[in-house]
Amino acid sequence: MRVIASANQKGGCGKTTTAINLSSSLSLKGKRVLLIDFDPQAHATMGLNIKPSDFEKSIYDVITPKKKGFLGIGDILIEIKDNFDLAPSSLILSAVEQELIGIDGREDRLFEAIQELKEEYAYDYIVIDCPPSIGHLCFNALRACEEVIIPIDMSLFSLRGVAKLLEIITLLKDNVGHDVKSRALITMYDRRTRYSRIVLEKVKAEFGDNVFDTVIRYNIRLRETADCGLPIGDYDKHAIGHQDYENLAEEIVNLETAGIHQNLNTLNRVQDILQKTEEYMKSPGIEQPISEMEEPSSYQIQSNYSKMVEVITTEPADSFYNDEDI
Ligand SMILES: Nc1ncnc2c1ncn2[C@@H]1O[C@H](COP(=O)(O)OP(=O)(O)O)[C@@H](O)[C@H]1O
Ligand SMILES: [Mg+2]
Repeated sequence: MRVIASANQKGGCGKTTTAINLSSSLSLKGKRVLLIDFDPQAHATMGLNIKPSDFEKSIYDVITPKKKGFLGIGDILIEIKDNFDLAPSSLILSAVEQELIGIDGREDRLFEAIQELKEEYAYDYIVIDCPPSIGHLCFNALRACEEVIIPIDMSLFSLRGVAKLLEIITLLKDNVGHDVKSRALITMYDRRTRYSRIVLEKVKAEFGDNVFDTVIRYNIRLRETADCGLPIGDYDKHAIGHQDYENLAEEIVNLETAGIHQNLNTLNRVQDILQKTEEYMKSPGIEQPISEMEEPSSYQIQSNYSKMVEVITTEPADSFYNDEDI
């Protein structure tokens, strides 16, 4: 089973579109796929035509510490089509960011839920659609996955979101030994525009080999699918958007798996990183998602974040084990 997250702090770069259509294309190849909607905005849920009235329990009930006895992901599954299940999300998931503060094991809720699922359900792929922010939800997703797809639409804002995500991924690797393989995916590419070509070059310069060969072209059909609640392949199988996601699924299936093993002995270190992350998250403004409308003047956010990363990375690794809460 491969667990793949679709993440970028920037909104509107194609995370959800990628999560839905990659899941669908993998399922069309006969792979058993679970899509976990891990965004309180529930766009993946809605994008598959599942409305709040269609389910009682969501991924919130799996993750929240407030419930007595957790639900498993198996308790909330909705079958979308052959080989394709959804763990739906709802707005209340946003409460988790606050509810998890200071809770033991808060960084491993999703990881553990997926481990339990493994025994009973034979999924080949689990795809996690992340929210456009770096907080507990994104952190849980990064802990639970072995691979991250980072969709980058043709704007430099997307690259800015990536820098922050990559810092967290590096921290997890250096301090915790959890090595998440990240690859950039170019989305909404329009080769006719010079700007698209410039961004493409920058992405390749930044990510080197870690860019998917597949490029998702701008395709109006992909926009339409969100309204009709269908993966692109079920809406218009001749659309270039469908071809592109078929190619992405093929490329992913053929990629060597990262072969990453979760090391539970590193738990204490993760908790320490998370605790420090939370301290800085409390600063107003730090968790603002980056949207296309946002103006790059938020130096406050940048500097708080850099400070947070600086504190975490300069902390000697051994001291992670000596904290009073261990
Ligand atoms: N390749 C594409 N071509 C055209 N529109 C796209 C493409 N990918 C995504 N979109 C549209 O862009 C918007 C944002 O995409 P979405 O996947 O919701 O981003 P995110 O999950 O990162 O916020 C949606 O309206 C979606 O339909
Ligand atoms: Mg989304």
